[in-house]
Amino acid sequence: MDAVLPQSFHLVSLETIDSTSSEARRRAQSGAADSTVVWALEQSAGRGRMGRSWVSEPGNLYASIVLRPSCGPERATEFAFVAANALAEAIATVLPGADVTCKWPNDLLVGGRKVAGILLEAETGPSGSLDFLVVGIGINVGHHPDDDAVRFPATDINAEGATEMTIGELLESVCFQFHRQRKLWEHAGFRLIREAWLERAYGLGGMIALRLPERTVGGTFQGIDEQGALLLKTDGGVERILAGDVLPVA
Ligand code: BTN
Repeated sequence: MDAVLPQSFHLVSLETIDSTSSEARRRAQSGAADSTVVWALEQSAGRGRMGRSWVSEPGNLYASIVLRPSCGPERATEFAFVAANALAEAIATVLPGADVTCKWPNDLLVGGRKVAGILLEAETGPSGSLDFLVVGIGINVGHHPDDDAVRFPATDINAEGATEMTIGELLESVCFQFHRQRKLWEHAGFRLIREAWLERAYGLGGMIALRLPERTVGGTFQGIDEQGALLLKTDGGVERILAGDVLPVA
């Protein structure tokens, strides 16, 4: 397993681990530097959003990045969009001409099927300041779950006809793009990140259904606000949604 990352990154390569995000968190708690990347060929306890498991057999990309940005915890979620833009660019590079979209909040789709997910976890210090973030990235490269095993139909980049590349080369591309998006965030703030994300947003301007923790709600997807919350126009007005799953658009 080999990857040459841009020089600001510190790569930790592992054959196997419980979860690269758990390992990144452990290392961050022990002082790992900003931009430490934990990469594993497989995970025995891969985690997805909302407590779900993430099937992590060899053949796909599993990596987590430790970040120590100079901002408060209220801005942490902006990094899910920084990462989504980076993944979209990296995936579009290996799938020229493909329909690559970003599904709120943290998924990447190709042709309307999920190809990658992002798990953002933050740790705050005793004073409530942001200690570190871990951005977990899973990209389906050589395999993907069956449709009946997941909430949203999935695919993988090889099945979509990706140009030949190793998982290490894909990680290099993801880190290169992540670096660019992070620089954009540092210089221009969330505004340009949000604009770029909206250009690829799945279902934007149309009717969508959202599964929330206690209900499913339908409405028009109007956009995301300055905090990354989804704006849904319903009969009752515009709802600001902080967490949920966008369901497939019919
Ligand atoms: C989701 O779509 O629910 C997010 C999935 C994130 C999976 C990645 S794989 C690398 C990292 N380690 C984990 O345990 N999870 C993330």
